[in-house]
Amino acid sequence: MNRFRRLRASGALRRMVQETHINKSDLIYPIFVAEGKNIKKPVDSMPVVYQYSVDTLDEVLGEIAESGISGLLIFGIPAHKDEFASSAYDDNGVTQQAIRYIKDKYPDMIVIADVCLCEYTSHGHCGVICDGKILNDETLPLLAKMSVSLAKSGADIIAPSDMMDGRVAAIRKALDENGFSGTPILSYSAKFASGYYSPFRDAAESSPAFGDRKTYQMDCANGREALREIADDIEEGADMVMVKPALAYLDVLKAARERFDLPIAAYNVSGEYSMVKAAAQNGWIDEKRIVMENLTAIKRAGADIIITYHALDAAKWLEEEK
Ligand code: PBG
Ligand code: ZN
Repeated sequence: MNRFRRLRASGALRRMVQETHINKSDLIYPIFVAEGKNIKKPVDSMPVVYQYSVDTLDEVLGEIAESGISGLLIFGIPAHKDEFASSAYDDNGVTQQAIRYIKDKYPDMIVIADVCLCEYTSHGHCGVICDGKILNDETLPLLAKMSVSLAKSGADIIAPSDMMDGRVAAIRKALDENGFSGTPILSYSAKFASGYYSPFRDAAESSPAFGDRKTYQMDCANGREALREIADDIEEGADMVMVKPALAYLDVLKAARERFDLPIAAYNVSGEYSMVKAAAQNGWIDEKRIVMENLTAIKRAGADIIITYHALDAAKWLEEEK
């Protein structure tokens, strides 16, 4: 008989043979920065998540710096939205201002800039629209302009999340031509059209005004296609790739890990966070156990980097365990 229980007999033994470890440096915390002053607005569907204005960011930046996690993913919420998302590539836009502020105060904090038009368009779609259709090739130059503007502001990593075809190549070319050949791209390569994003759309005020995102984001049924998306982004020049959401797509993450050698990020998205928070607030689950189990599963499946709204809590819990 195999006695597996021999190595489970004490905490010290279990720690010694533990296969998967979460490091604080694996974690990235998403933040929402709104245009205006003196804002700290709770997001109703995401407990303990807030929209900040640049002048109130210090509190959360301090926590991030203290926590030992690698950095943050920034989403801007502009005051002005229009058809062509002009605030997205305005060098004085809210996201650009916030990045300059953060990098000035915390030069060592990794700032990943999400690149997508949906927070900046009046219609809430991730691309330019004509006759109710989301246009692919007409969107690419805007994404490229936005990326250059964010890199100019000091973003360390450019992270396109729009799911237009060919955007990684377009962004790479624009970055290179504008003196940012050293700025890496983390592509949201396998981004599924998911119901798990709805709390985020509250937080980022980016719900589409009509229709859905199924003509550009992936069908949740397609695992093989996800690998083709990833392979294509690598060919176009992505330095890192992403699978999103994380928990319902661990099979995709695992398959990507087996096939590709570059760093892989997983996005533990808003809906995944809010479900855990809601159950914890009801006393139905032990929040710490569930969060650490979820993050461990994401790491075990093959993620190098985990983007998660639990990052600051997880960092605290990892510190306590030492
Ligand atoms: C923008 C974007 C979205 C998320 C990250 N970037 C929303 C969407 O595609 O609708 C989702 C993140 C989350 O749910 O936490 N395109
Ligand atoms: Zn978008």
